[in-house]
Amino acid sequence: MSAYAAELKTTAKAMVAEGKGILAMDESNGTCHKRFAKLGIPQTEEMRRAYRELIVTTPNLGEYLSGAILYDETIRQSKKDGTPFIKIMSDAGIIPGIKLDAGAKDLAGFPGEKVTEGLDNLRDRIADYYQMGARFAKWRAVITIGDGIPTRGCIEANAHALARYAALCQEGGLVPIVEPEVLIDGDHTIERCYEVTEETLHTVFNQLYTQRVAFDQMILKPSMVISGQDCPKLASVDEVAEATVRCLMNSVPASVAGVAFLSGGQTFEQASAHLNAMNVKFGGIIPWPLTFSYARAIQQPALDAWKGEEANVPTAQKLLYHRAKCNGAARSGKYSPEMEKEIEPALAS
Ligand code: 13P
Repeated sequence: MSAYAAELKTTAKAMVAEGKGILAMDESNGTCHKRFAKLGIPQTEEMRRAYRELIVTTPNLGEYLSGAILYDETIRQSKKDGTPFIKIMSDAGIIPGIKLDAGAKDLAGFPGEKVTEGLDNLRDRIADYYQMGARFAKWRAVITIGDGIPTRGCIEANAHALARYAALCQEGGLVPIVEPEVLIDGDHTIERCYEVTEETLHTVFNQLYTQRVAFDQMILKPSMVISGQDCPKLASVDEVAEATVRCLMNSVPASVAGVAFLSGGQTFEQASAHLNAMNVKFGGIIPWPLTFSYARAIQQPALDAWKGEEANVPTAQKLLYHRAKCNGAARSGKYSPEMEKEIEPALAS
């Protein structure tokens, strides 16, 4: 058992507290630059810092966020006036987390499939991040649906790495977010997504068990069971909610501390509606809190409005707060599409 077991349980519970969820703001520089480039924002360290300052200084964000996941560069950065981001977050009641994986790389011998790297020196890196104030971590594995894929080789390699990472996190005092993402890319049906997600989750939990990971001291971050984005027949909100909960019920141990979904390329309205429908329809029977750990589905409207201009910061912050509020409501099954209209008067004022 980890020397940190009691602390890990408390942190994991806090991460999925009622009405709250997690903001993923841990884009690597490469991903951040791709998103900046689309909007003509200069791809510099100072712009990355300014954007993350915009996020962490958004007033009252802690009402709806339990935690935020940072990138290595960001956890070391500060506001223009010198206040470290970590301090701003902690003062706002937002637990700092850290991305620990080193990205998904081509898996040798398996064309079209990826394996996530980053296990080298992980014990030492975890100790450093704990010292800096991080209390949870994330590792994302990527599973692609296509012709003849995913293979067992890919699913097992990723599940094993996730389990090794999670065990090291618990040893070092960080709650592991275990993220096996089944990509939305492709024209597959929701039924195919169900099959792949179920096999992936079973394999991941088998490996977590084999590596002696404590389920009540971890958070699962799955993708939803959803139609591929190019599928000719897209599943409805209720179908996604039903299939996702059925898949989790069939593959996730009841003792897992919480489930926090990624948004994975859904629109921000869909991401809120899907999470809400799951909590409305199944909140009374599922054994885990179901919440969000979104990046794009929280950040995108704010990033679009900011465009890299100081003058746009207040508008961008209102948009960010609003998406956090919508998803906080969805965490409790209290979101409605009507909430989307609240933002217009706020932007005009
Ligand atoms: P999205 O919500 O944009 O899918 O990102 C979540 C995440 O953290 C991916 O690793």
